[in-house]
Amino acid sequence: MTETEIHPFIDVRIEDYCKENVSKEPKHLEELDRKTHLHFVRPNMISGNWQGTFLRLISKMINPKNILEIGTFSGYSTICLAEGLQNGGVIHTIEKEEEYEDFLLENFAKYSNKNIKLHIGKALDIIMNIEEEFDLIFIDADKASYVQYYNICVEKLRKGGVIIADNILWYGKVGLNPMPQDKETQAINRFNQIITEDTRVENVIIPIRDGLMMGRKL
Ligand SMILES: C[S@@+](CC[C@H](N)C(=O)[O-])C[C@H]1O[C@@H](n2cnc3c(N)ncnc32)[C@H](O)[C@@H]1O
Repeated sequence: MTETEIHPFIDVRIEDYCKENVSKEPKHLEELDRKTHLHFVRPNMISGNWQGTFLRLISKMINPKNILEIGTFSGYSTICLAEGLQNGGVIHTIEKEEEYEDFLLENFAKYSNKNIKLHIGKALDIIMNIEEEFDLIFIDADKASYVQYYNICVEKLRKGGVIIADNILWYGKVGLNPMPQDKETQAINRFNQIITEDTRVENVIIPIRDGLMMGRKL
């Protein structure tokens, strides 16, 4: 960890308290979390119960018809988001790693009865070709492309729709160093600035885990 990294941002005791005072993880997600830890080399990329509960509640409040997710990994956040879908609704989720496909298809079938459409490939190639208007968008992949994802996604978001981006505090590196050298920190700083200055959107940072940016299209 470098000098400018602060993680976790909140006192660990407060973080533990937050994790204790969140709804109990449902059995199917507990199982998926366990499988993720057994199957993947970097299981810490999973949303987990704290953030997953937030995503599930937001999705249930919006009750979306169409959701877009960029960055599926083991499908944990996909299943959380899908739980708020209205009847006949669909979640499009994009993952670049082809070798995750079998794991994902098996576990979506096992742990969700919602319409989950998995796209394997690079997000920038795929999102251009999904001709839908979205009620809810979750960006959680390839930090260096956050600005590009945002510019495309905000056009595809309906008025009143919600966009959420993960890791926008980037281990505390954002904002602390005025001249960050790594391209991820630069891109996340830029993304946070662009969404904040975008008059089409009202936005707020929610410091859960590595930080979520939430915006609502006006
Ligand atoms: C942080 S993980 C996603 C975690 C998941 N959303 C969750 O909360 O459980 C990011 C995922 O994005 C994928 N990814 C990275 N770059 C990508 C790209 N250009 N297009 C699509 N997926 C990408 C990675 O392979 C990884 O599985």
